Amino acid sequence: MIRPPLSGLALATCALLPTSTPAHAAQVEVLHYWTSGGEARSIAELKKTLAARGVAWKDFAVAGGAGENAATALKARVMSGGAPSAAQVKGPAIQEWGQEGVLANIDAVAKAEKWDSLLPPSVAAIMKYKGSYVAAPVNVHRVNWLWVNPAVLKKAGAKAPATLDEFFVAADKIKAAGLIPLAHGGQPWQDATLFESVALGVGGADFYKKALVQLDPAALSGPAMLKTFDTLARMKAYIDRDAAGRDWNLATAMVINGKAGMQFMGDWAKGEFTAAGKKPGTDFLCVPAPGTARAYTFNVDSMLMFQKPKADDQKSQQVLASAIMSPQFQEVFSLNKGSIPVRAGVAKDKFDSCAQQSMADMDASSKAGTFVPSLAHNMAVGSAPQGAIMDVIARFMNSNMSSKDAVAALAKAARTR
Ligand code: GAL
Repeated sequence: MIRPPLSGLALATCALLPTSTPAHAAQVEVLHYWTSGGEARSIAELKKTLAARGVAWKDFAVAGGAGENAATALKARVMSGGAPSAAQVKGPAIQEWGQEGVLANIDAVAKAEKWDSLLPPSVAAIMKYKGSYVAAPVNVHRVNWLWVNPAVLKKAGAKAPATLDEFFVAADKIKAAGLIPLAHGGQPWQDATLFESVALGVGGADFYKKALVQLDPAALSGPAMLKTFDTLARMKAYIDRDAAGRDWNLATAMVINGKAGMQFMGDWAKGEFTAAGKKPGTDFLCVPAPGTARAYTFNVDSMLMFQKPKADDQKSQQVLASAIMSPQFQEVFSLNKGSIPVRAGVAKDKFDSCAQQSMADMDASSKAGTFVPSLAHNMAVGSAPQGAIMDVIARFMNSNMSSKDAVAALAKAARTR
């Protein structure tokens, strides 16, 4: 609800109210999809940070991994004229919203806090529409990880795979030990998450960029793409029969409790391990997705700001933007979320070995030109081709479609505008 700023009288009245949130508090309504155990712990930190700055939180949570449901809910709200203060929107979709003319300009806070000098230029560019900041970056997630239960490996006499060949060796051993080799949830975005890590492992970063960022027809229909689908088809045999529709965090839970050995997933999965009290290196392992150690598929979460007519709402939005970029928040949020801070100047010592590796690999891959945007997590291409590509991948995962047909369908889907 929109309320006028606090006057001295209002403050005095609020102090008498028995509620924990003052009745006249400034407020932001935030649309997000952080609803799993680890995610809920992370967003609770944002609420706390804001409360400490005098801004109340109105939760607009829409469950559904990777935010497909949230994106639909956001469209409905903006079209009906009731945009939230902020929404979890990433990558090229920020430009698409910019074209609708509904975004708030947060340059005042970004300039005062020197965001340009704190953010990698590529990240700053994603946060801007026509040169002005419209979104605040929260963190960096690495997508090309494999999460492994070492106790399962031990039982199976297997070792954590570094290459795709080693992956299949380990998977066979885990299967022979009577356990599920690959924890997976049959949802289009999870299929696409698996697909992009396999594509990177099969063809390397240059192929990935050409095919899945530049949507180059030759790369999309060439031999590396054919091999990607062949590899994906082999992987299906190591996923259990109940995977259809399973949420990602339930697949992670299968690795946590030793029912399954491995999961391809971004490092928000680590948030589930840590929320369950598990320690990296002993209870679970994070290894780069097989064959992708030198590359890094990035996924930068961000809060996109929408135009609000009232000055006090605009002010609250700026408090939100400033809170998100504060070093304290960037640290505590990523410690819970499994990600790493996106801005410079955040202490690194509290981060675990997986996060330390992510930081080092982000640096190395940026220098090597192998730091690539995640297709499955809305960072690589616009929403129309992305949706069409993900559709092909999901159809392939759920049918006996041949790799040859999949490649042809993919090249066609990439032309969707
Ligand atoms: C990603 C998002 C993460 C996490 C995950 C599962 O796209 O960037 O923050 O929420 O989806 O929903």
